[in-house]
Amino acid sequence: MYVQVSNLNLWLHLVYSSIFGHYSMDVMANYVFSVDLDSINEPSNPFITHASKILRFPVPLFLFQGCFPIFLPLLELLGLSLFPKSSTIFFRAVVEKIRAERNESLRKNLADILQNFINYQTNKLGKERENQGLNDHEILSQVTMLLFAGYETSATTLAFLAYTLAVHPEVMKRLQQETDLTFPQKGPVQYNSLMQMEYLSSVVDECLRVYPPAARLERMTKETVKVKGITIPKNMIVMIPVYAP
Ligand code: HEM
Repeated sequence: MYVQVSNLNLWLHLVYSSIFGHYSMDVMANYVFSVDLDSINEPSNPFITHASKILRFPVPLFLFQGCFPIFLPLLELLGLSLFPKSSTIFFRAVVEKIRAERNESLRKNLADILQNFINYQTNKLGKERENQGLNDHEILSQVTMLLFAGYETSATTLAFLAYTLAVHPEVMKRLQQETDLTFPQKGPVQYNSLMQMEYLSSVVDECLRVYPPAARLERMTKETVKVKGITIPKNMIVMIPVYAP
């Protein structure tokens, strides 16, 4: 594939939609519930189409609920959601199906996130369950949330990384040298050796600094504080726009 690398938007769209989105979804589905999607070779996989729909939420509604979270219960009551219903139903059904299969089958020794949650599941209620496992609904929510927390962020980071390397060939060359030294003769990638790759780590850190995939952070104040003359009361949620200068 040949792309004019100076066109960042086009580059990101092509690389994201044709490679990294699929790759990232494959990794996340495997990590969360040991499912092999192979969506690179099967791009019409419903996992990918529904994930893309979920992440293309309406911007006005997103801004409204971000600025006025007090109206969230009202939006819920009106049936307005950032995410298309058909896609949330799809993911819910997938997780429930995998969950049900796990309960019935012998595949209980899987080392994925879902199995970890199931192993520590609790049926206790109220105070009795303090510091105990999650219930059914919480498992479903956490698994779905993890799938998306890792999918979009990783795909975007990889796409920006590929772009950065394409426009800085000298960095790509140095990274290639480190890779060849760490894994000679294109040997298999080992976790411990990968963790020793200092230049790779610096390149990824710098890319995340220049192109942070999460545009907004939130913190809640534990105490009332005054910052540059502005009083922020205790328990107020403060929104931090990451791209603000
Ligand atoms: C390059 C990839 C990733 C980036 C850039 C990224 C970025 C972030 C950021 C900025 C936050 C908010 C942190 C804060 O408010 O202090 C966050 C939180 C979180 N991320 Fe990621 N993330 C990535 C990959 C992943 C993956 C692969 C997973 C899951 C497997 C994941 C799961 C989470 C979770 C669960 C939280 C919430 C943590 C909490 O509230 O304590 N992220 N991530």
